[in-house]
Amino acid sequence: MCGIVGYIGKKQAAPVILDGLARLEYRGYDSAGMAVFDGEKVNVTKAVGRLKVLEELTHGGETMPGLAGIGHTRWATHGAPNDVNSHPHFNKGKTITVVHNGIIENYISLRNKLTKKGYSFVSETDTEVAAQMLDYYYNGNPLETILKVLHRIEGSYALGIMFADHPGEIFAARKGSPLIVGQSSDGCFIASDVPAILRYTRKVYFVDEQEIVRLEADHMHFYTMDEEEIEKEATTIDWDANAAEKAGYEHFMLKEMYEQPKTVTDTLTPRLKKDRIEIEELGLGDEEIRQIRKIHIVACGSAYHAGVTGKYVLEGLARIPVEVDLASEFRYRNPILEEGAMVIAVSQSGETADTLAAMREAKLKGFQVLGIVNVVGSSIAREADHVMYTWAGPEIAVATTKAYSAQLIAFYLLAVKFAFVRETIDDTMYRLLLRDLRRLPDQIELLLNSKEKIQHFANRYIGARDVFFIGRGIDYAISLEGSLKLKEISYIHSEAYAAGELKHGTISLIEEGTLVAAVSTQPALYQKTISNMVEVRARGAFLLAVTNVGNREIEKVSDYTIYIPETNPFFTNSLAIIPLQLFGYYVAVGKGCDVDKPRNLAKSVTVE
Ligand code: F6R
Repeated sequence: MCGIVGYIGKKQAAPVILDGLARLEYRGYDSAGMAVFDGEKVNVTKAVGRLKVLEELTHGGETMPGLAGIGHTRWATHGAPNDVNSHPHFNKGKTITVVHNGIIENYISLRNKLTKKGYSFVSETDTEVAAQMLDYYYNGNPLETILKVLHRIEGSYALGIMFADHPGEIFAARKGSPLIVGQSSDGCFIASDVPAILRYTRKVYFVDEQEIVRLEADHMHFYTMDEEEIEKEATTIDWDANAAEKAGYEHFMLKEMYEQPKTVTDTLTPRLKKDRIEIEELGLGDEEIRQIRKIHIVACGSAYHAGVTGKYVLEGLARIPVEVDLASEFRYRNPILEEGAMVIAVSQSGETADTLAAMREAKLKGFQVLGIVNVVGSSIAREADHVMYTWAGPEIAVATTKAYSAQLIAFYLLAVKFAFVRETIDDTMYRLLLRDLRRLPDQIELLLNSKEKIQHFANRYIGARDVFFIGRGIDYAISLEGSLKLKEISYIHSEAYAAGELKHGTISLIEEGTLVAAVSTQPALYQKTISNMVEVRARGAFLLAVTNVGNREIEKVSDYTIYIPETNPFFTNSLAIIPLQLFGYYVAVGKGCDVDKPRNLAKSVTVE
């Protein structure tokens, strides 16, 4: 989703902004622009397309000299991606410039009011309304003016603002969209996310809801919506800056897939003690765990798929009823949450608008929310009552892999812990489950190291038109994610079906040569899935099977078989997903797709 970078200090602003925007490319965008104050006036350059177009237009920023500026990568919401709609937006004389992430929901009525007062608009965006409103209310005092405007705006925003007659300051404000500010000895920074400024500083402040920041070259001031100045504590970011680089891999996605053994270890280790699981951040004692009557999981996309697995694992092990909802559905269906219910919001970015809204809905109904979140300090992390971080580190590829794997681990930990406390498993089973959890990182590594086999197979399918993924129970959850991985990066149509559901319609789509990937990792369901495989094979399907080592019977009905190492059936998702991720990746690479930045997708979906 949109990225914001701003800078004021001793350096030339334009190269700093371009560099920061490049590090936010993972968020997805379709145009870019920046505004730089050259000492006399504000110059603006904008361009549709990749950031490199803006870089070329400005010779890497050289044609836009100046020590203060704001920049933006836009992911179109209001109005098509084009030069005019891209940010920054400004008033008539370009004396006030604005970059914005979020949606101003009442922009039409605000725009109509301004039109009546003689304002005209050049773009179709909601953001230009903010720039013109600032012009309308401007009284020479930027802070006062910004506050007046913010009080009239409904919706969400992260804003970067410059006033030409206040050349020593830039402003930032936030409500509902991510924003951080940072400080180094060379200047002060605004950014949508930490990687944008990590090269310059590790001293970061997380801007809270409805806060405004006034940045000078060597100082930052924070204000509430009542214009009260407040003190904030800086956070020192200790991520390895290289963690955000490709480290020799062809794509971030491949690098991140290879990081999965580490991710899984990092997510397990702090909670997996010698002979037990401890999840301190859960904030629940044993008695409270025993009192849980129901769990509601809300999430989007792959995080939702992790939640579907979470349902099978929590119900299967801890015998707690679980409902898993797409966050976009949960938030509008007036969900019934009965006493004793626990809500879990799952999100890599911690900024997904629907998940955040679903979580707020649950809180409004008086329920405590546990966030399973990857990005530290993100909105969901800060608003959840308790946070269980997935320690996957920054994930750059738009298609998630390592964060999804870490989410699975979070669910396993919760399920095994709850099961033990609620005595739905005995000591022996507890020990066996802990042993199998500990084995997962090495087993994932093993599967990654045999990537050639799947790479070879994937090359045969770069011309596929439709692919179907089938499975039952947890294998269905795995199929959902396998299918999403393939379609989102290779643009090949694919669908996941509960294997038993095929004959209720979908089987009519199977024709000679259609690839069907059958996931069969649940021994109790082997025979059932084999029957479904036979059904599609009889109609001409080519069958790829992913199953447990030792299940040789499946070879009788499959054309190509991938075996995963032995683990507890509740944990097979962590292993079976690896060949499916690799399959999607190599098909997309074979087709020449932009794997890390698939078309139309954004890493962080901060609007509905
Ligand atoms: C798919 C993918 C998306 C995200 C979804 C939720 O590869 O990455 O489906 O899983 O947009 O995002 P988060 O987890 O950031 O809430």
